[in-house]
Amino acid sequence: MRTMRRTAIIGALSLACVPAVLAATHSGRDAIVEARQASMKEMAAAAKTIAGMFDGKRAYDAAAFKAAAEALRARAGPTLIAEFPGASLGAPSSAKLEINQARPEFEALARHIGRLTDALAAKAEQAPAHISDEMRMGAGLAMDGGSLLGKRRGASEPDPAKLPAEHLLHLILQDCSSCHSKFRQKVE
Ligand code: HEC
Repeated sequence: MRTMRRTAIIGALSLACVPAVLAATHSGRDAIVEARQASMKEMAAAAKTIAGMFDGKRAYDAAAFKAAAEALRARAGPTLIAEFPGASLGAPSSAKLEINQARPEFEALARHIGRLTDALAAKAEQAPAHISDEMRMGAGLAMDGGSLLGKRRGASEPDPAKLPAEHLLHLILQDCSSCHSKFRQKVE
């Protein structure tokens, strides 16, 4: 179930990679849009690499896991925020103009995924030679007093550092989807 949902999310992300038809002139605005789209594609590739290792579709390799987690970390948080200056929003980019009206929400999402990718990268630094049980979704739940409770409204969020790597990946993918559903549009 979980694997299927994740595959669907990654599938949807890959479809989004079909390049938008860009204006013939190469303005500074186009360069900003192209750079952030390239950055998003790097994040998608990194997330796919890590998901593949947890799903058994790709051989686990500690160094590749570390590199992918670092690729995500480097593009989230403040870097992500800086990639969306007001003048670069709207068609032909897929970034909605509404990002400007909802800056606090957009930036909160970027910082949230930043905290999760920081935690994942820190864990990947210590990644063992083989996938361990502690890295798996569900590990540490009992210890954490049930981190899923943290999702209830009003309850505080679990400390990302205490979550297993696979759980972090799952939450990271949720943030990708949350932001896209609010702030990304289809452009012809
Ligand atoms: C805070 C908001 C936000 C988060 C978080 C976010 N994205 Fe995006 N993403 C966007 C927006 C907005 C666009 C449209 C950018 C454009 O076309 O200028 C986009 C575009 C994309 C694209 C299409 C790029 C292209 O070639 O046009 C991919 C792929 C993508 N994101 C993957 C991801 C992945 C994977 C994650 C999570 C690891 C993620 N994004 C997290 C906002 C976000």
